[in-house]
Amino acid sequence: MSTVKKSVAVLGLGSMGAALADALMVAGHEVSVWNRTPGRAEGLVARGARRAGSVAEAVTAGEIVLVCILDYGDIGPLLEQQGGGRAALQGRVVVNVTNGSPEEARAMAERVTALGAAYLDGGIMAVPEIIGSPDAFVLYSGSREAFEAHRSVLDAFARSVYLGEDPGLAPLHDLALLSGMYGMFGGFLHAAALVRSAGGSVAEFTTTLLQPWLGAMAGSLPAMAAQVDSGDYSVTGSPLAMQVAHDSIGEVSRAQGVSPELFAPLFALMERRVADGHGSEGLAGLVELVHPR
Ligand SMILES: NC(=O)c1ccc[n+]([C@@H]2O[C@H](COP(=O)([O-])OP(=O)(O)OC[C@H]3O[C@@H](n4cnc5c(N)ncnc54)[C@H](OP(=O)(O)O)[C@@H]3O)[C@@H](O)[C@H]2O)c1
Repeated sequence: MSTVKKSVAVLGLGSMGAALADALMVAGHEVSVWNRTPGRAEGLVARGARRAGSVAEAVTAGEIVLVCILDYGDIGPLLEQQGGGRAALQGRVVVNVTNGSPEEARAMAERVTALGAAYLDGGIMAVPEIIGSPDAFVLYSGSREAFEAHRSVLDAFARSVYLGEDPGLAPLHDLALLSGMYGMFGGFLHAAALVRSAGGSVAEFTTTLLQPWLGAMAGSLPAMAAQVDSGDYSVTGSPLAMQVAHDSIGEVSRAQGVSPELFAPLFALMERRVADGHGSEGLAGLVELVHPR
C-alpha cells in the first residue's frame, strides 16, 4: 500500500474506471473523477472523490491522468480538445488502461508526448471485482521514468508489471495472455461436451479430473517455451508422429455427437507439421507454422 499520497484524475467511470478510482481512494490518494454521463460519478463522490465538471478540470486537478473508456479512438479528442490540450497536460503523466492494439498504443504515446505529458499504456489482467486484490495484475509499457516515479500509485490497483519503453508491449502481452486463456477455455468446452455426451457430470469431472490434469500439463509450459525460444524441438517421449497416428479425439467426438471444430484446427497443424518431416519432434514446433522464423 502506498505511503506517498498523489493527485489522480480518473476519466471514465464505467465498471473498470470506477473500480480503479475506488482502489485509489482506499490507498489514500486524492481522486478527481469525470465521466461523460455525469450521473455515474455519484457513488464515487459520496465515497470521497472530487467531482470534476469537465475533462479539463479533472486534468488540472491530477498529477496523474488515468484514462479508462471504451474505445481508443475517443481518447485523442478527449485529451486534446476537452482536456485543454498542451496547456493542461504539460508535465503530467497519462496512464491509459483502455484496451487497444500495439499500434494504437504507439500512436497514442506520440499524441500524448506532443502535449507535453509522459505516457504509460496499461493492460488490466483482471475484472473490476478483483481490482485491489492480490489476484489482479496490470501490464504497463511506455515511459520507464513515469512508471518508476508513480509505481506506488499504480500498485493500488494490482501487482504492477512493467514490460519496457515500447508502448505497444502492454497491449501485445495482454492479447498473448488472453490467447492462452481462450485456448484453455476452448479445451475445457470440448472436454465438457464429451463428458456431457456420455451423461456425466461436467462439474464433478472438472474438479476431480480436469483441473488437476491441466495443472500437471501447465508444468510442461516452461520447457516448451524454451524450445520455442531456441528452435530446437527435439523430444524423447510423445513425438508428434505418435500424437497424430489416430485422430481419436475427432473420431470419438463425432461418434458422440460432439463437433470437433474446437480441436480440429490444432490437429490439422499437427498433421501438417508431421507431413513437413517433423514427426519426431514435439508439439512446440507448431509455432513455426503460425509464425515462421
Ligand atoms: N470490465 C472489465 O472486465 C475490463 C477488464 C480489463 C480491461 N477493461 C477495459 O477497460 C475499458 C473500460 O471498460 P469498462 O468495463 O469500464 O466499460 P463500461 O463499463 O462499458 O464503461 C465504458 C466507459 O467508457 C465511457 N465512454 C465511452 N465512450 C466514450 C466517449 N466517446 N467519451 C468519453 N467517455 C466514453 C463511458 O461513459 P458513459 O458512462 O458516458 O457511457 C463509460 O465510462 C475498456 O477498454 C475495457 O476493454 C475492462
